[in-house]
Amino acid sequence: MTLKHLSDAAAALQISRRGLLFGAAAGTAGAAMLPAAGFAATPETDTIDLSQRHPFYGKGPQAGIMTPPQRYVFFMTFDLTTQDRQALQVLLARWSAAIAQLMKGETIGQVEPDRAEAVGLDTAEALELEPAGLTVTVGLGPNVFSDALGLAAHRPALLRPLVDLPSDALKPDLTGGDLSLQACADDPQVAYHAIRDLARIAKVTGTAATRWTVMGFGRASAGKGQATPRNLMGFKDGTRNIVQPADFDRHVWVQDGPDWQRHGTYQVVRKVQMHIENWDTDRVSDQNAVFGRHKLSGAPLTGTKEFDTPDFAKTATDGSPVIQDTAHIRLAAHENNEGVKILRRGFNYTDGINQFGFLDAGLLFLSYQNDPAHFERLQARLGASDALNEYISHIGSGIFFVPPAPTEGSYIGEAMFA
Ligand code: HEM
Repeated sequence: MTLKHLSDAAAALQISRRGLLFGAAAGTAGAAMLPAAGFAATPETDTIDLSQRHPFYGKGPQAGIMTPPQRYVFFMTFDLTTQDRQALQVLLARWSAAIAQLMKGETIGQVEPDRAEAVGLDTAEALELEPAGLTVTVGLGPNVFSDALGLAAHRPALLRPLVDLPSDALKPDLTGGDLSLQACADDPQVAYHAIRDLARIAKVTGTAATRWTVMGFGRASAGKGQATPRNLMGFKDGTRNIVQPADFDRHVWVQDGPDWQRHGTYQVVRKVQMHIENWDTDRVSDQNAVFGRHKLSGAPLTGTKEFDTPDFAKTATDGSPVIQDTAHIRLAAHENNEGVKILRRGFNYTDGINQFGFLDAGLLFLSYQNDPAHFERLQARLGASDALNEYISHIGSGIFFVPPAPTEGSYIGEAMFA
C-alpha cells in the first residue's frame, strides 16, 4: 500500500511552496542561499512503502537505531512495580515475543489466557494496518541492575544516572524510568498500538507501570530529494550525523564486556521544549548565527551547500569568526570535541497549547553512543554557552542500556538471568 494519492496532492503543494521558498532565497540572500544541486532534482511524488518490515531477531544491534528513521515515534518509559527477578524475566520474554509479532504486522494474540475476557486479545486498532516499518527498541535503566533483582553484577560498565548538566530544567515527572520502549513506524497508529499493548502486558503482569511518554513526528526524509528533515525551528537537522558503519562501530556499539552486551549501546533521551513564539520573532540572519548554518540550504555559514564541511577557523573582514563562538555547531562538532561523535535520532513533538496560550512543542532528542559521557561532554558545553539556550529548555531526561537483539527463541537480556 502506498500513499500515492495523498502525496500527489502534497507534491502539487510542495511545488508552489518551493517556488515561494526559492523566490524568497534569491530575493533576500543571493547565490549563497541557493539550495544544493540534489534538492533541485526532487521527484514530484513521495511514497511510503507501508508493507516494509524490519526483523526483530538477529545477531547484532536491535532495530530502530541504525534503521533509517521512520516518520513517527512513540517513546515511553516505565517504573518497575516489583522487585521479583522472575517477573522481570517473564516481562522481557513476553515483550520480546510480542515485539517480534508486531514488527511482522501480526497481532500479539493472547496475553493472559486465564483472563482472556478482560485482557487477552490484541486491542485491535492496528488490525487492518500494514507493518509500516515498525521497530520497537527496548532499553534497561540503571535501577534494573540492582542487588534486589540479583542483577547488580551484570550492570553494563558505563550505565549510571546522567550527571547534572548546565541549563537543566528537568521536571521529575518527565525524568528517569527503569525500562524504555522506542516504537518508530511510518504510521502513527501502528507505533501507538505497539506501545499501548506492550504497556498493557507490563501492567497485567504486575511488573511495570508507565512513567512518562512523548509522541513525535516528522523525522524521516520527506522524499528522495529532501534527505534531511527539518526540526520545528525550520532548520535541517541531521546533516552531520553518523552514517558510516565504521563510525557506528567506533562511536555507537559497545565493543567490550560480556558477550550479551556487545552491539549494545547507551540510549540518552531528552525532552527539549522550544520557545517557539520567541524564535519566530527572530530574524533569519540571527537564527542562522545561532546554529552556524543557513536556514534554507542547511549549508554552514562558511559554505554554500548543505554538506560542505564547516570551516571553524574562517574569520570575517573585522576578524570575528564567521561561525560565532556560541554557535550550536561549533560547540557540538567533533572537530572541537576531541573526535567525540554521537548518533542523533530526534523527532519533533507537540503537546498542544500551554497554560499561557503558547504553542507547546519541541524536540524529542534521542541519542545513541557507546559511552554516555560523550553525550554529557557535548551537553555540558551546549548547556553552558549555546546561543540556542535562549529558545529551548531541557525538561525531560533518561538513560538506558539497549542490549543487542535476541536471536530467535531467546529474549532481550536473557543472558543476565542465566
Ligand atoms: C532543541 C534542541 C536542538 C536542536 C533544535 C538542534 C538542532 C541542530 C541543528 C539544526 C544542527 C545542524 C545540522 C546537523 O548537522 O544536524 C545540529 C547539529 C548538531 N547537534 Fe543539535 N540540536 C539540539 C540539541 C542538541 C543536543 C542536546 C545535542 C547533544 C548534546 C546536539 C548535538 C548536535 C551535534 C553533535 C551536531 C552536529 C554538529 C556538527 O558536527 O556540525 N544537539 N543540531
